[in-house]
Amino acid sequence: MKTYLRILAHAGPIKRLSLFYALTTLLAICFGLVNLSLLIPLLEVLFSQTEGSTLGAMPKPEFFISLTHLKELFNYHFINIIATHGRISALYFVCIVMIIAVLLANLFRYLAEIIAAELRVNVIHNLRSALFDKISQLHMGYFTNQHKGDIMARTMSDVQEVEHAMDYSFRAFFKEPATIIGFFVVLFYISPQLTWLALLALPVVGGSITIIVKRLLQRAAQSQTSLSRLTGILEEAMDGMHIIKAFSVRSYISTKFEQENRVYAKLNLSMLLKTNLIPLLSAFLGVLVLTLLLAYGGSMVLSHESAFTASTFITYIIIFSQALVPIKSISKSLSNIQRGLAAGKRIFALVDIQPAIANKPGARAAKKLKQAITFKEVQFVYDHQPIIKNLNLTIEVKKKIAIVGPSGGGKSTISSLLSRLYDVTQGVIQIDGLPLQAYDIASLRKLIGIITQETTLFHDTVFNNIALGRPQASTRTVIEAARIADVHEFIQYLPQGYQTVIGVGESKLSSGQRQKLGIARGVLGKPPILVLDEATSALDSTSAKKVQEALDKLMQGKTLLVIAHRLSTIRNADEIFVIDAGEVVEHGTHEVLMQKGGLYKQLVRA
Ligand SMILES: Nc1ncnc2c1ncn2[C@@H]1O[C@H](COP(=O)(O)OP(=O)(O)OP(=O)(O)O)[C@@H](O)[C@H]1O
Ligand SMILES: [Mg+2]
Repeated sequence: MKTYLRILAHAGPIKRLSLFYALTTLLAICFGLVNLSLLIPLLEVLFSQTEGSTLGAMPKPEFFISLTHLKELFNYHFINIIATHGRISALYFVCIVMIIAVLLANLFRYLAEIIAAELRVNVIHNLRSALFDKISQLHMGYFTNQHKGDIMARTMSDVQEVEHAMDYSFRAFFKEPATIIGFFVVLFYISPQLTWLALLALPVVGGSITIIVKRLLQRAAQSQTSLSRLTGILEEAMDGMHIIKAFSVRSYISTKFEQENRVYAKLNLSMLLKTNLIPLLSAFLGVLVLTLLLAYGGSMVLSHESAFTASTFITYIIIFSQALVPIKSISKSLSNIQRGLAAGKRIFALVDIQPAIANKPGARAAKKLKQAITFKEVQFVYDHQPIIKNLNLTIEVKKKIAIVGPSGGGKSTISSLLSRLYDVTQGVIQIDGLPLQAYDIASLRKLIGIITQETTLFHDTVFNNIALGRPQASTRTVIEAARIADVHEFIQYLPQGYQTVIGVGESKLSSGQRQKLGIARGVLGKPPILVLDEATSALDSTSAKKVQEALDKLMQGKTLLVIAHRLSTIRNADEIFVIDAGEVVEHGTHEVLMQKGGLYKQLVRA
């Protein structure tokens, strides 16, 4: 119920809309009932059971809104027409009233549908927005492959599931109960005896359906989990398609997919079998009740004991069979609502995750670096794997600092920790003596420009890709940044220059070109601290040298942190830190380290 209310809270102006929905639905039901009830006079006029001569006994009824009044008012006019214009005219009269009733019933039904549609569309839209909002706030550590598939499933199919459930819930919680009440009021009015009999028999129908629905629910949750695993595998396959092809390991991923696909199919089959059983069962039980009524009501008509005529009885049976429709619909709706609620729970579980990295109250803006960045006894654990073990390092302002070391030693992790993509597990990283957590995250990330090993480009123009996060950037500054990255000329030769749309995949650009765009993006805001993580690794040595010189010039008087494999680019660094297995093993200038003859010297030799 809590989940349901939370979903409703996403439906927009729910009070106003649900009021309209209730009103239009009730009107639709009333006119539908009027229409059905008109069968009695229709049949009677056909069977010649009503005589115009009874008119004298009937006073024109006083105005009063009640079922009896409506009936009497109709009968008054009906008999009046038979008396004055004959049976055919009376038939036409009934037909006209019927058409009007059907028209109104359908008009109001349509209005109710429109309102229900608006509520559903709002729910989808608002839930997806809430989800995406949360996803973009989550810390980097959350986006494992497993989680990615799960997020996709929740944002796409779970939201869809909730939408269906919404629709069904309007029906099951309001429309159908109201319809049933309406029908039974009329049924009681026509024949209390028959209706009591029906009411005694119906709980049996309801009870057996509830039992099946309950068993169905367990499958629903399992099938959704399986679907999200399946999506995860699909996602993984698409991400790694070129590796899959290059290593000819299609069968590996196919088998993985096939296994999960089979599990999903099995769960789905078992669920579908049960879902289909529900309407069958309820139809059969419905007919059973109906037959009971036919036998009992039929004998009432044949015995001529009461004023219960054949026309009334036929109409009663027709209305009763119509009353079974909403009952069946409720049972079907309930199973769908359960599926939707299961999906809703999964959605809210994601929405409720607290981002591990968030601003503390009172966080201050990081404006500039005055003294130094210090890593003090920093430890960092990824998936229970200690990556950074005991890192002590100081980066003084306005210095060019280099980090070198074997692959996998934790160099890129240091830059991720510095811009708080992850938080340290133990120890502290300080900027001017204050821990990173004391600063506003957005200002911290503006302070530190990072050019990463891999450049992610978005499906947008070259200009917007460079000016990412800085929508106010002028053409001049973007071109300046592109020049530093040695990519200005290349961009000019593109079909629409800076306005050329570049794709998501690697297809359109070489990795060197992508990296240059990444460099341009990184230097655009002229951040006081710039971190280059193998920023020129994909470039040829001439190009790399050119870019490195331009960067050195740009960063004069600023702080530059260079992570490099190509050791020639960092020879002139003020201090070089050699990192191995998450620790600083040696540090000093190039000359000092060469003299020492340790790991650095080995790396240079290699
Ligand atoms: N997203 C991640 N999840 C789990 N472990 C990771 C993740 N990213 C990196 N690691 C692990 O952290 C360790 C350090 O990785 P890092 O990228 O910092 O190394 P690096 O020194 O930059 O290496 P390279 O020179 O190859 O770029 C590696 O052992 C790697 O397996
Ligand atoms: Mg790295």
